[in-house]
Amino acid sequence: MKIKKINVHISEEEIEKRVRELGAEISAAYGSESVCLICILKGSAFFTCELAKRITSPVEIEFMSVSSYGAGTSSSGVVKIVQDLSTSIEGKNVLVIEDIIDSGRTLSYLLQNLKTRNPKSIRLCTLLDKPERRVVDVKVDYVGFEIPDEFVVGYGLDYNQHYRNLPYIGFVEIEE
Ligand code: IMP
Ligand code: MG
Repeated sequence: MKIKKINVHISEEEIEKRVRELGAEISAAYGSESVCLICILKGSAFFTCELAKRITSPVEIEFMSVSSYGAGTSSSGVVKIVQDLSTSIEGKNVLVIEDIIDSGRTLSYLLQNLKTRNPKSIRLCTLLDKPERRVVDVKVDYVGFEIPDEFVVGYGLDYNQHYRNLPYIGFVEIEE
């Protein structure tokens, strides 16, 4: 697969506006209670940092890295924790931050795993959601944008580890 062109789908301004809205919604939900943001590396790094800046509740930021086995552009359902949290989440309000929910397999596995660690509450926030692609049901509490079933890059999302640094979300046009 060779990329011919990247077309802007969601602009930098639109993302920024939506991140502010989500930040306000999340702040209203937690109020003065502390919330532990779990950034799922690497894809949600940009989103987590920008979102954290818009949350007025006390925030902790933790990182976790998972890999869904399988090459190319779809996940296999076999999820491996590559880098675990460096701290306990027992008794904490946890908000998992993802870049995109596609089949739902990664998140379904991850949420089950995190629930066994006895957090006080656990919610899920994703920048992008591709509902058409869902194979496993996951309850998503906060969604930035719903997008159609097309491969996207930018604002943290990659194609073969590239394009994460684009400030917008772009649809990928493939070379014929
Ligand atoms: P799921 O387990 O199928 O929900 O896979 C989610 C993961 O697949 C995301 O965290 C991304 O790493 C990757 N992914 C799914 N769709 C896209 C896309 O359009 N662009 C870039 N990565 C994607
Ligand atoms: Mg990812």
